[in-house]
Amino acid sequence: MRGSSSGSSSSSPWPREALRRLAEDPVTFSKIILGFNPFPYQEKFLRDPGKRIIVCSGRQVGKSTAAAAKAIHFAATREKSIILVVSATLRQSLLIFSKITGFVEGSLLRYSVEKMLRSEIAFKNGSRMIALPCGGGDTLRGYSADLIVLDEAAFMPERVIANVVFPMISATGGYCWMLSTPWDRDHIFYRIWCDETGKWSKYHWPSEFNPLISREFLVEQRELIGEERFMVEFEARFLDDRDSFFPMAMLRRCVEDYEPRLEENSVYGYDPGGRESLAAIVGVKYDQEIGKWRLTYWRAEKCGRYADFNALIYDLHRAAPMERIIVDETGLGGPIVEHLRELGLPVIGVKLTEKVKEELFGRLKLMIERREIILPNDPQLLNHLNCIQYERTRSGGFRFGRRNGTHDDLAYALALALYYRPRRGFLI
Ligand SMILES: Nc1ncnc2c1ncn2[C@@H]1O[C@H](COP(=O)(O)OP(=O)(O)O)[C@@H](O)[C@H]1O
Ligand SMILES: [Mg+2]
Repeated sequence: MRGSSSGSSSSSPWPREALRRLAEDPVTFSKIILGFNPFPYQEKFLRDPGKRIIVCSGRQVGKSTAAAAKAIHFAATREKSIILVVSATLRQSLLIFSKITGFVEGSLLRYSVEKMLRSEIAFKNGSRMIALPCGGGDTLRGYSADLIVLDEAAFMPERVIANVVFPMISATGGYCWMLSTPWDRDHIFYRIWCDETGKWSKYHWPSEFNPLISREFLVEQRELIGEERFMVEFEARFLDDRDSFFPMAMLRRCVEDYEPRLEENSVYGYDPGGRESLAAIVGVKYDQEIGKWRLTYWRAEKCGRYADFNALIYDLHRAAPMERIIVDETGLGGPIVEHLRELGLPVIGVKLTEKVKEELFGRLKLMIERREIILPNDPQLLNHLNCIQYERTRSGGFRFGRRNGTHDDLAYALALALYYRPRRGFLI
């Protein structure tokens, strides 16, 4: 330890033992100072003195909260330490940072604060905590850190973790805690999870560990997001996407830190749901400045009557007129196209034969490989794309399917949207 801010000088009226306990035990510190009572599985993590910790967990299990408390203990007990709290997106890093500022403001520690901003706290003991998005790595360069907390690490570009984050802490002999819901296996988060050198302490927390999460909620989620995403996001198991037409490693390169918003003159793709599948709509718009397409809108949901989803689409068109909407008119799609046309939408129907699907997905894959499209960091959207599997047919073409327990409707909607080019009509 590099010193202590606990002030246990001989003149202190506080019992030395009690102060020592607070400084040495993050669990006691959390309970007494922060008013946070960790669950037993969080206690183990809080007490782990390791320099390298990896937590692979389900959603809502309490990893950000536990990491926030542990990081505050780190800042409070080590003078002049620099702590970076990094996520894939600014929104995510501010989310965990708001837990940190919430703990500090609600505790006695607020008297030890020199400066508190939305993304930075400077303590009187010289320690600083800073929230940063990892972006392409540029936001992080120039810092040296004693502790880096990577929240949702599986969603960060691998090269940033390997080339920017690790060099930063190896220079200071610092600490790194990686926390994430798992994702695919072609990523450093998975490789570290599998590391057997003993360098990393590992924690596996499925969501059901959290006693506040009810069985009913989990059953409902399983139904809602499909078996596969449930396994990944709530049971914290890694995804096997070896047979995927759009592997996660490929998709991740198109992912950027932005919030899609409704834009006029977007081109839409619409895959009407069936009894089993979801109704899905995706909007894209070409950004002249950067020469890329950007996803501007998406939505997928279980839908009883197509007229309801059509009404929603009509409202979208009223709010921001569409350039085009391309609709899958296979099967029951015919009347849906007709209805949208009656509503005055610039609709085009496309019959999804195997041949058209091949063109549609082939085109989309090319755009993804060339990074001609920008996607938001959203697990639902990425999972719909990633679950698409293919096999070669005897005629040399592709036949598409999807992994069991998945939904792929947003992938079809996106591919349909990109099937059309303004002015030039259909590309193929
Ligand atoms: N020990 C705890 N006691 C009470 N509530 C907790 C505890 N740990 C986490 N929570 C709550 O559980 C929810 C999920 O926590 P969070 O840290 O955001 O999870 P994760 O980052 O794993 O998704 C939050 O509402 C949080 O306040
Ligand atoms: Mg979290």
